Amino acid sequence: MCGIVGYLGLNDAKEIILNGLKRLEYRGYDSAGMSLYDGENKTFQLFKEKGRIVELEKSLTTTKAALGIGHTRWATHGKVNRENAHPHMSSDQRFSIVHNGVIDNHKALKTMYFDNHAFKSETDTEVIVELMALFAKQMPVPNAMRKTLKLLQGSYALLVIDHESPDTLYAAKHRSPLLLATADDGMIIGSDMMALIGTAERYMALEDETFLQMSKDDATIYDLDGTVLPYDMSVFDMDVLHTEKGNFPHYMLKEIYEQPTMLRGIISKFFNGNTINISQMLLKSIKKHNRLHILAAGTSMHAGFIGKGLFEKLTGIPTEVHIASEFAYQMPILGDKPYFILISQSGETADLRACLLNLKKKQYPTLTITNVITSTLAREADDALEIFAGPEIAVASTKAYTAQIAVLSILAYALSCQTFALKRELSEVAIAMEQCLDNVDYIDDLVKQTLTKDHCFYIGRGNDYHVSLEAALKLKEISYIHTEGFAAGELKHGTIALIETDTPVIAIISNDKTAQNTRSNLAEVHSRGAKTLTIVFESLQEPGDEIVLKNVNPSLAPLLTVLPSQLIAYYAALNRGHDIDKPRNLAKSVTVE
Ligand code: M6R
Repeated sequence: MCGIVGYLGLNDAKEIILNGLKRLEYRGYDSAGMSLYDGENKTFQLFKEKGRIVELEKSLTTTKAALGIGHTRWATHGKVNRENAHPHMSSDQRFSIVHNGVIDNHKALKTMYFDNHAFKSETDTEVIVELMALFAKQMPVPNAMRKTLKLLQGSYALLVIDHESPDTLYAAKHRSPLLLATADDGMIIGSDMMALIGTAERYMALEDETFLQMSKDDATIYDLDGTVLPYDMSVFDMDVLHTEKGNFPHYMLKEIYEQPTMLRGIISKFFNGNTINISQMLLKSIKKHNRLHILAAGTSMHAGFIGKGLFEKLTGIPTEVHIASEFAYQMPILGDKPYFILISQSGETADLRACLLNLKKKQYPTLTITNVITSTLAREADDALEIFAGPEIAVASTKAYTAQIAVLSILAYALSCQTFALKRELSEVAIAMEQCLDNVDYIDDLVKQTLTKDHCFYIGRGNDYHVSLEAALKLKEISYIHTEGFAAGELKHGTIALIETDTPVIAIISNDKTAQNTRSNLAEVHSRGAKTLTIVFESLQEPGDEIVLKNVNPSLAPLLTVLPSQLIAYYAALNRGHDIDKPRNLAKSVTVE
């Protein structure tokens, strides 16, 4: 989703912003732009292009800039074109703005303040810069900014430059992330840690309803009434090496391969001998509640389904999983002592933030499980647990899913009085993962033989069904093959009508109690012409099975059974020539509702 970078200082803003925007490419975008102040010629220049950042780079004519703001746009209001790309400039040419988020009342503001004005773009952003220009005719710029911000409904992270004041950068934040950092000889501001890599020295996340005024040496942060707010910065220690592809052709493949090592890393972070490193206060607080509610979206929600099984099995506490975007506006009956677990790789998903704000208003206890411990959801929940997956750059989430399940299993285990050796069982999963990763060429061959159609089904029962949902999401989001995950027994109640000659149906079979039933369902589709493929545990193997996995503890099976499905998605997308790390229409961090 949209990305923002701004810089003011003695180094070259153009290079710093360009590098920052390139690091934000993983978030998904469709156009990019920059506004730069050329100190030598004392002019502001605006550049924007539809498509990839390389197109923008080619168009840049400024040689060196002291001040600049840059943006990658993921279209929400208005088509993907140059006019709608950011930055937007006010019609009096005084201000440029970049914006992440959605202004819900942009139409009303246009009608109220600019009845006959011809806006250049279809965006919800342009009205902000026109309001700034309008109010700045009557009052100092900081007041004009505050007055504008107070009119906005919705979410924003925005950077504004006043072309009459090239030694100042203005920014504001409400419900969309924004980070401020000191840099060598300047200040940098961006929507994501990735944008700051290589430049930032100390950093902080801005709070909602704040705006700031920054010079090359310093920044002052205000609330919307103009009161100066104190702040504190932390050392920025994100390692550039962890964010590079190394020898892998794609981030997604690198991240798939990282899973066994990552799992061992999670074990060492959470286990101290056989003691678990989760605060007793947190465990006690969860135990006081009689119903757990897991909130999440997409892949993280699929991890939540596995978490539900683990919590119910190990702790006996009834657990429900909710789609965050539904829960935010349709809160179900919760029971008398509910506890909320928010799962999010990025910790910035707007649908979850909407839930969290509601929950906080009602003073319900919350825990965020996330890969980004500095994220908004981690900071704002009562407690946070890090999943230690390391930076996940590919849009298609792989290692974050397995890390989330691993941490959920450790949390469930810590809450229970179980005596099985979770630490050893997780280590065995890491070994089994490595064995599966030794056979990737075989999986590529199977994909070439089996995935010959534009539709596909994954089926399974219990945890295998929940992994089927994740497997289907992975395949559709990067290969664009229309794929559904189904409870194996449910297919015959309608959807089996879609099976035709050579429709691929992939069955996941890891549970001895349901293996034969799933096999019967597979036989039903096979006899109607489907091309079938199986992912099975070796103890359940039958002649003709294709992908056979080492047995692991059945409660942890999803950590392993998902792995071939990630590889299937990867090779299907590779064979179809798609942009694997940046699939069409998708964003890594979904910061609008
Ligand atoms: O950052 P989050 O885990 O909150 O993101 C939620 C979903 O947008 C995300 O899991 C998405 O479904 C995956 N990128 C799909 O691979």
